[in-house]
Amino acid sequence: MADEPLQQPESDTSDSTGAAQYTAAGNKISATFEAEQARSKAVMARLEQNPGDFRMLTGDRPTGRLHLGHLFGSLQERVRLQNMGVQSNIIIADYQVITDRDTTAHIQDNVLNLVLDYLAAGIDPKRTMIYTHSAVPAENQLMLPFLSLVSEAELERNPTVKSEMEASGHELTGLLLTYPVHQACDILFCKANVVPIGKDNLPHVQITRTIARRFNRRYSPKKPVFPEPDAILTNAPEIPGLDGKKMSKSRGNSIILSATPEETAKLIRKAKTDSERTITYDPVHRPEVSALLTTASLCAGVPPQDIAEQIGSAGAGALKEYTTKAVNGYLEPMRERRAEFAKDMDTVRDILRDGNHKANHIAGETLDQVREAMGMKYYD
Ligand code: TRP
Repeated sequence: MADEPLQQPESDTSDSTGAAQYTAAGNKISATFEAEQARSKAVMARLEQNPGDFRMLTGDRPTGRLHLGHLFGSLQERVRLQNMGVQSNIIIADYQVITDRDTTAHIQDNVLNLVLDYLAAGIDPKRTMIYTHSAVPAENQLMLPFLSLVSEAELERNPTVKSEMEASGHELTGLLLTYPVHQACDILFCKANVVPIGKDNLPHVQITRTIARRFNRRYSPKKPVFPEPDAILTNAPEIPGLDGKKMSKSRGNSIILSATPEETAKLIRKAKTDSERTITYDPVHRPEVSALLTTASLCAGVPPQDIAEQIGSAGAGALKEYTTKAVNGYLEPMRERRAEFAKDMDTVRDILRDGNHKANHIAGETLDQVREAMGMKYYD
C-alpha cells in the first residue's frame, strides 16, 4: 500500500533501476541507500566520460556561514563538476530557511556571504548559475501541478522531514511537510539530471524522480517534459567537528571558512582532548584527538596516522599547533580571494541579479511546456 502509485494504473513502486523506495515504517532505507550509492557511482562514471551531457543543480539553505565540512563535502565537488564542463546551477534556497524556523533575520547577510564563499571556492558565475529561490515565481508555480502528483502519505513518510520536525521542536508546518516538493521544483525547473547531495537529501531526490515520472506519464507520455534525475552522493569522508561529533553551528565545533586565522586558532586551542599524552589516531576511543588529526590530515594532505606518529609524545598542544597551521595554510588562498570579492559587494549583488534573471528565463520556458502538456495553453 505504502508504495502505491498515486492514481496511476501502471506500477511505479520502484524507479527505473528497480531501486527500492522507503516504506511507511521507514524500513528499506538502507537498501535504498545502497542502491542509490551504486546508482550514483554509475552516473559518475558516465559523467566523467561525457560531462557536457549533464546538468547539475544543487544548493544550500542560507542559515549561516559555510564550514570546512561544506568545503570538502560539497563545494569542491561542485567546482570540479563545473570545471569538467557540466552545466552547473546552484540554488540559494531562501524559502527553505522558514521550513523549520520562524524568522528571516540575517537572511541578506547569509545569502551574500554564501555567494562570497562560492566565489572564493572557485565557483565561476559565468559557468554556474547562482540564483535565489524567492526570485523565481515560475519555478514556484510548478508546485501546484507537482503537489497533485504526491499523496499526503508519501509526504508524511519522508524520514528527513520527520527528523527535521523533531529537531525543530515545532509542530509540522505545511511548508516543512511539502518542501521536498519545492525541492523537486528547484531541480526540475532547469531539467537537472544530476543532483549532488548528502544522504539527508536523498529522499527529496527520490520524490523528485517520482514526480517527474508521474508528470511525464500523465501529461506527456510521448515526449517527456522532465528528466528523472540522479543523486550524486559525495565520497568525501565526513569531517567530524572538533569535538569528534557531527559538525554543527550550534555546537560551535566547526571551522568556518570565512573566519580569521586568529579565530580559527582560538577555536582549535579551545578544542577538548583527552588525558592521554601520546597522540594516536583512534576515532572510536579517542574521538576528539582523532577529529583534530582528521582535520589536519585533510588540510595537510598527510595520512592522520603519520601526523599522530610525528607528534607522538609532544601531546595535544603540539597537535593543535599542527592542526592550526594546516587549516589556516590550506584556507589562506581562499580567504584572500574572499576578501577581494568582499570589497565589491555591488558585483556580488550583480552576480545574483544575473543568476536570477537567467533562472526566470529558464523557469518561464519550462512552465510554458508544462502548460502545453496539460492543455492549458489557450493562445500563442
Ligand atoms: N535541502 C538542501 C539542504 O538543506 C538545499 C537545497 C534546496 C537543495 N534545494 C535543493 C539541494 C535542490 C539540492 C537540490 O542542504
